[in-house]
Amino acid sequence: MKKWIRWIFGVLGIVFLGIQLVPVDRSNPPVESEVPASPEVRDVLRRACYDCHSNETRWPWYSYVAPASWLVANDVHEGRRKMNYSAWNQLGESKQQKRFHESWEEVQEGEMPLWFYLPLHPSAKLSDADKTLLKQWSEQSSGATHRGFLERRDDKDHDDDDDDDRG
Ligand code: HEC
Repeated sequence: MKKWIRWIFGVLGIVFLGIQLVPVDRSNPPVESEVPASPEVRDVLRRACYDCHSNETRWPWYSYVAPASWLVANDVHEGRRKMNYSAWNQLGESKQQKRFHESWEEVQEGEMPLWFYLPLHPSAKLSDADKTLLKQWSEQSSGATHRGFLERRDDKDHDDDDDDDRG
């Protein structure tokens, strides 16, 4: 029995070492153009969103240890693909307005930042003051066409996969 247990642990150990060899892309591409925001708003975005929605990801130590690294990298790549605050120039005006609007919408609905990110990143927990800042920024930036945009948006599924900003 004991021999059997040792054998299991040995195999698990080898598998653990083996999966460390799988390459993980932790690159931070150059910042192209940052999303327009006041320094106060940018501070909130940096604390709560930039790890997954910018090219300035702070890769934590566990992002160097598989299998956690796979999960972290996947969230960052998915997050950037959906919306990248470091490549704002790549979006057309209406897409920018949409993303400005959604930035508050996702926070308001409690969808963002992703819940499992918070225990490991307490500074990403948004205070009421942070939320007020984000809301104002989002509403002002999504601007005059806000209403028209909302109307257009109602008649199509915005969670569509071809709604990605990249890829
Ligand atoms: C731990 C990584 C992570 C953090 C932190 C994070 N996001 Fe996200 N975000 C994602 C991923 C992954 C997606 C794509 C999948 C999804 O929609 O759930 C996404 C999607 C989005 C979308 C697009 C939603 C859609 O359906 O089109 C918006 C807008 C967004 N996030 C805003 C934010 C804002 C604002 C913050 C900070 C307050 C934030 N996110 C923090 C990972 C993250």
